[in-house]
Amino acid sequence: MKSLLTAQHEGTPLFVFEQKQPFESWLSKQTPFSQNWLKQISFSGNGLALIPNEQGELAQAIFIVDDASDFFACGDLIKKLPTGQYLLHADAKHQQAICFAWLIGAYTYTRYVTKSPNKQPLPILAVNDQTLVDSAIKYAEATALVRDLINTPAADMMPKNLGESAQTLADNFGGKLKQIIGDDLLNDNYPTIHAVGRASIHQPRLIDLSWGNKNHPKVTLVGKGVCFDSGGLDLKPSAGMRNMKKDMGGSAHVLGLAQLIMSHNLPINLRVLIPAVENAVSNNAMRPGDVLTTRSGLTVEIDNTDAEGRLVLCDALTEADQESPELIIDFATLTGAMRVALGTELPGFFSTCDDIATGITNAGGKISDPVWRMPLYQPYTDLFKSTIADMTNCSSTPFGGAITAALYLQKFVRKETNWVHFDVMAFNVRTLSGRPLGGEAFGIRAVFDYLQAKYK
Ligand code: BES
Ligand code: ZN
Ligand code: ZN
Repeated sequence: MKSLLTAQHEGTPLFVFEQKQPFESWLSKQTPFSQNWLKQISFSGNGLALIPNEQGELAQAIFIVDDASDFFACGDLIKKLPTGQYLLHADAKHQQAICFAWLIGAYTYTRYVTKSPNKQPLPILAVNDQTLVDSAIKYAEATALVRDLINTPAADMMPKNLGESAQTLADNFGGKLKQIIGDDLLNDNYPTIHAVGRASIHQPRLIDLSWGNKNHPKVTLVGKGVCFDSGGLDLKPSAGMRNMKKDMGGSAHVLGLAQLIMSHNLPINLRVLIPAVENAVSNNAMRPGDVLTTRSGLTVEIDNTDAEGRLVLCDALTEADQESPELIIDFATLTGAMRVALGTELPGFFSTCDDIATGITNAGGKISDPVWRMPLYQPYTDLFKSTIADMTNCSSTPFGGAITAALYLQKFVRKETNWVHFDVMAFNVRTLSGRPLGGEAFGIRAVFDYLQAKYK
């Protein structure tokens, strides 16, 4: 991916314009030959046009988009241009978006494809700015990491594999990794992570990555790492289970976000906690009606074994909160209800702090990573009351399901903690520019840009 973007200043000129003004004034300065060519090919003033010289060689390319500040406007460009090196000409304020889209547009998941089609090498984009190149590579590589982790089938992305990915990340950036595996989760008091994961032959684990200077402000990321969610004894129907390899999407998001933080060397004392399990069916699976005592001491009656994400997250959140970090951010493919509320392409999030919520929303707006705040509407806590324990793991009604799930999690962070909870789809269900079907990162650029502005 890296080699597709370079800080050089040679190449076939590639002009990226927004419609109307810039294109028309550019056109008026072109040779009669080029103007005539564009007329001959009935160029509509939108999309790509390749312009030859009089020898029939490619002389320049123009790409016209509606909104060049959209980070995905040029998401298909790398696949449309012929092999070669192109030198970018675009408004300085659009170059970051174009470089990111160029790289991420090259993303494909090929691990299991044995017959690779005989394709021409992808073109290379040159921009005369090393900082821009480095930054685009970091954003694109973090996004690709998230996509790869999610796209990998569950059989090859079990808790052990997630642990290996976290280890690689720790090794690459000088972080430390600790893992609590199998029955050690019981010895170290992570009962809910163990209870959800114990039915699988793939042992559950808590992955614990730390990085950075201990004197810097502590930020802790928590990611749902359900490597496959069959639903447990409350088995999902086929259609609902089909894409549940993506149920470790939250953990993929926090690893991608951690990679952004570490590669930019943000002055943060970072901790990443990933409860990694498979929610499987077996004779020792947790049952509806069982009561678990969580790490925090609160007891939870299992109403539905498919509401397992909040169970693994609650013990991880308790551990995160016990250190009183400045900020806790979790990412999880937590509820279908959030998709009903906002659709698959807009991630919803909850926050105990208005300023942080506004900061993240505004940051996302600037980099085409939209996020939408949802309310922690307290009266709904009554919906997961239990008659025999402190609470149940699931509301008595599906209505407001994303809110009740978030309220369940909120029980495990103290009132004064700055906490942000993202409920993400982690998957593209339709193809959009630069976004193929399959695993996707939602909100990590928004959060990263917020953190970068806050902890410069
Ligand atoms: N992993 C699912 C949530 C999910 C489903 C996210 C589809 C994205 C797309 C989660 O563990 C789950 O099964 N949630 C249940 C909760 C219910 C039992 C209260 C749900 O959303 O139906
Ligand atoms: Zn589930
Ligand atoms: Zn799940």
